Amino acid sequence: IRHLLSGADLDAGTATEILDTAAEMAAVAGREVKKLPALRGRTVVNLFYEDSTRTRISFEAAAKRLSADVINFSAKGSSVAKGESLKDTALTLQAMGADAVVVRHSASGAPHRLADWVDGSVVNAGDGTHEHPTQALLDAYTMRSRLGRLAGLSVAVVGDVLHSRVARSNVLLLSTLGAKVTLVGPPTLIPVDIAAALAPGTAVCYDLDAVLPSVDVVMMLRVQRERMNDSYFPSAREYARRYGLDGARMRRLPEHAIVMHPGPMNRGMEITPEVADSPRSTIVEQVANGVSVRMAVLYLLLGGNNR
Ligand code: CP
Repeated sequence: IRHLLSGADLDAGTATEILDTAAEMAAVAGREVKKLPALRGRTVVNLFYEDSTRTRISFEAAAKRLSADVINFSAKGSSVAKGESLKDTALTLQAMGADAVVVRHSASGAPHRLADWVDGSVVNAGDGTHEHPTQALLDAYTMRSRLGRLAGLSVAVVGDVLHSRVARSNVLLLSTLGAKVTLVGPPTLIPVDIAAALAPGTAVCYDLDAVLPSVDVVMMLRVQRERMNDSYFPSAREYARRYGLDGARMRRLPEHAIVMHPGPMNRGMEITPEVADSPRSTIVEQVANGVSVRMAVLYLLLGGNNR
């Protein structure tokens, strides 16, 4: 593939190749010299129109570990603040010789437009409420490394599905890789027909307590209060009571089950500190795996070592 814009861009073979390559990249991270020469002479531009901690830093670390030149572009402090369009910004980056553009944007679909304007590869690092495919890949990598497989896993994705690009990309990718996804949350935060529209076989349940005893993975989503008004749920306390993962609920999970969260977390809202910091939580591991997965994505898109 030339671009990575959506979880739907990946068939099972390509996704598995990325995960297997990420495992090789993880071995590099454990070495004394963490760098590979694979992308020497190539330029990766990180184009971030929206705030990010994990994704921006891990793409930068990934590109540097592959010896690429990295240009970090933040909309704040750039000519975007003077009204420059995405297209003109893209053409400027193109003129500077970007081989890959990693883009985060508040507008759903922005990476797709960008892909029409630049010659290099475009990687979607999160667009609006639409998709975040490298997050889904690092989540799948984490599940596979903790639980040994993806096919046949039962994964509950819990909370603010309506606003979650992480949920959308996970449903697409996990379904492709043979996992069974159940979306869980209040009806106001699970769009009608989203499950069937994204991937046939995806289930919906409004009762968290009913699904916990039978899942292998519970993935908590950040409640995106900035995108909501009070009609979505009555109060933060009521939300936490019905859909928050606390210690008592965690103890109802099967012994082997893991707890995931893409971050950033609202501690005390969708997840309590006791759960977030427990041995079942893979939250920090997900961040570490993100670097290896993004190394794999850049390596494969840019044809590392002209493979
Ligand atoms: N998970 C995630 O995308 O985090 P950031 O917003 O910090 O990049």
